[in-house]
Amino acid sequence: MKMEQPEHCGEEVMPGSEASRLHVAVIMDGNGRWAKNRNWPRIVGHRKGAERCRELVAACPDLGIRYLTVYAFSTENWSRTTEEVLGLMSLFGRYIKREAARIKKEGVRMRFIGDRTPLDPKLRALFDWIEAETAENDRVHLTVAINYGGRDEIRRAAQSVARAVAAGELAADAVTNATITAHMDTAGLPDPDLVVRTSGESRVSNFLLWQAAYAEYVFTPVLWPDFTPEIMKTILDAYGQRERRFGGVLT
Ligand code: FPP
Repeated sequence: MKMEQPEHCGEEVMPGSEASRLHVAVIMDGNGRWAKNRNWPRIVGHRKGAERCRELVAACPDLGIRYLTVYAFSTENWSRTTEEVLGLMSLFGRYIKREAARIKKEGVRMRFIGDRTPLDPKLRALFDWIEAETAENDRVHLTVAINYGGRDEIRRAAQSVARAVAAGELAADAVTNATITAHMDTAGLPDPDLVVRTSGESRVSNFLLWQAAYAEYVFTPVLWPDFTPEIMKTILDAYGQRERRFGGVLT
């Protein structure tokens, strides 16, 4: 069956093909429970989660995933204990330093979305460094959301558009969906096709609210530290069976 697709959706390409533009976004949930089940500190669950993330990135070409976006720290996560917040921030820095050589070799382009302004300047410098180091890579696009919230991103984009209008660079009536998209942190990335959330929770939790307007959602009970590329393969196989209509009708 053939279906109409709006302009933003681009070409539909089978996962696994060289030209795949498949964008999968992941809410990596359940690290704390995984650690608690073993009577270990929560940070151990996050460390295991970072390993799972590394394995998934390495498996992306085989899985046909060109764009992988992961939710690593939300604007709400600041309410956790100082110990956990600092532990996570230090894990992010270590991940970048440890993974830099591997991701460069594997052709991964790494980017960060979210508001960086409250982050430690050393961590921000690492973000800038790895983004510049991998800017030419195109095999896999890994985007990590840190201090990210969908509403916060939309607010910042709206402010940015408002500033352009106030400066006379843009007419208010000329603001289109594409204008907003271009002012989001994700500018230049295609919209996610599929959003996966682990740990049995079925909430969107302020993740990619603008971008996921037409995405499919999959909720799996697996805790993130137990998630494997094989599980992603099963999810993608099921996703391949679904029909996406983008608000239209099948013809
Ligand atoms: C949610 O589980 C997970 C997080 C808040 C942190 C996720 C971060 C990583 C996996 C590290 C990845 C690092 C990079 C740089 C890619 P939770 O703590 O809310 O789990 P719970 O719901 O069981 O308490």
